[in-house]
Amino acid sequence: METVSWVKSGAVRLIDQTLLPNKLQYIELKTVESVAAAIVGMKVRGAPAIGVTAAMGMALAAVKFRGADREKLNSALDSAAELLAATRPTAVNLFWALDRMKYVAAKSGSVENVRKAMVAEAEKIRREDVEACRAIGAFGAKLLKKNSRVLTHCNAGGLATAGYGTALGVIRAARDAGKIERVYADETRPWLQGAKLTAFELAMENIPATLICDNMAGALMARGEVDAVVVGADRIAANGDFANKTGTYGLAVLARAHGVPFYVAAPVSTIDMATPDGAGIVIETRDEREVRIINGVKICPDETEVYNPAFDVTPAELATAIITERGVAKAPNANNIKRLACKR
Ligand code: MRU
Repeated sequence: METVSWVKSGAVRLIDQTLLPNKLQYIELKTVESVAAAIVGMKVRGAPAIGVTAAMGMALAAVKFRGADREKLNSALDSAAELLAATRPTAVNLFWALDRMKYVAAKSGSVENVRKAMVAEAEKIRREDVEACRAIGAFGAKLLKKNSRVLTHCNAGGLATAGYGTALGVIRAARDAGKIERVYADETRPWLQGAKLTAFELAMENIPATLICDNMAGALMARGEVDAVVVGADRIAANGDFANKTGTYGLAVLARAHGVPFYVAAPVSTIDMATPDGAGIVIETRDEREVRIINGVKICPDETEVYNPAFDVTPAELATAIITERGVAKAPNANNIKRLACKR
């Protein structure tokens, strides 16, 4: 299953995640506008997958540019980057990927060279993401005990990355090491990424899984039925505070109250050294209809006010460790996060 890939003739190929788990359908996007719309519309989601898709969107803008005027190409690329940057504000991998693509364009000379270099860079970002997830999986699996019952929130799997996943990468690697007894997948209201995507990935991998409503996690922990929580992240601030899917903060508080280890798995591209702490992380607020309506059916009165922040921020002190492809920051803080971010 390839979440995001580049089509040689000049297109970005994606799994349309809004159709899962009922239909596995690929779409091919041939304009940067359609790539931006796919990100906004959650056809592709998950911080690393958004970054890879945005990089490919930039490559598409270069490939589709007609002519050999470098100045005009620059302004086409600036417009493409602006459009893509406006899609989703929290996942920092998006901005990281756009910066990387802009840097490659700036140093590539002729229009033809820019086209080639940008396609190559976007493919490299995709490959690197899969490698990073595998390394995260290997580091994370070592932290879990035998016969672990692991709870996860949202979808931080192959579908949220270029492949393999971050939190699900840890679970995959731990399963291969014989350490997973069961995974509890939070359904993850309002979008239900846990029910629609994580449960789907776990079923495909034959990993024993139980779907729970988000508000059931506390009781499971109180009964001693959760050995660890593993989640992804959309942005990790310089002090280790992190944003992830709404509901993550509550889960971290519950885990602390019950003495359950709480792990965050994310590539270094999710670390934002320019944001000192969680207070500086921009949280995306999404359309209230996502809360009002489930699968086309209205579930509350029209006059009810709705609040729909897509993410929340968890303080670093609630995380047992942050697992990256460069190693693990135990009891994350400004020093060990900086060490990982700067390590080569
Ligand atoms: O709104 P989404 O589905 O893009 O949110 C995804 C998450 O919150 C993931 O946990 C995060 O991006 C990490 S994905 C490896």
